[in-house]
Amino acid sequence: MKFFLDTANLNEIRDAATFGIADGVTTNPSLIAKEGGVDFKEHIAAICEIVAGPVSAEVTSQDTEGMLREGRDYAAIAKNVVVKCPLTREGLKATRALSDDGIKVNVTLCFSAGQAIMAAKAGASFISPFIGRLDDIGEDGLVLLQSIIDVYRNYEWKTEVLAASIRHPIHVIEAARMGADIATMPFKVIDQLFNHPLTDKGQAQFLADWHKSGRK
Ligand code: G3P
Repeated sequence: MKFFLDTANLNEIRDAATFGIADGVTTNPSLIAKEGGVDFKEHIAAICEIVAGPVSAEVTSQDTEGMLREGRDYAAIAKNVVVKCPLTREGLKATRALSDDGIKVNVTLCFSAGQAIMAAKAGASFISPFIGRLDDIGEDGLVLLQSIIDVYRNYEWKTEVLAASIRHPIHVIEAARMGADIATMPFKVIDQLFNHPLTDKGQAQFLADWHKSGRK
């Protein structure tokens, strides 16, 4: 499973890159807004310099023409830019047109298997089901993820399943058990995946024993 960072923060992206586990980055308008008054295209370019894999840049137009204009503009920033389009009728029309032009599209805001099928039919390179936001309204986001993976396994579609809106390590572990192609997660969740109190305790004990025996 590939790990994408769900952030627009350059320091977090650099940190994750030092672990060698940042296979890509996903941004969205809310994450960009958190970075203050940065220039969007310059910021995406800066991310693309740190990470060689796919970097999602989301369109904010509501109509297909606007999405196409933005999408083509963003795709020209760097060769690893992936255009992110919303799962709307207009967004899927833009997805088809951009994909036909050889531009990769990540279809975002997916909340049903039916929507995921439509995105695959539109030629999306990635489909982003939002796991955590379904959990937030009392549904089980992981059930949706499994359902999409099951459907996609029946066909030769090229669309990769990108588990998004991940909130904690269990989401990552379950997505991996299901065979999701990618999980995109905040830096905090990557950091949590390293942690276990018994690792810390065991390490402290090993070092204490080592020093007690007079070794440096
Ligand atoms: O980038 C899309 C998605 O991962 C957003 O996550 O936590 O805002 O629901 P969240």
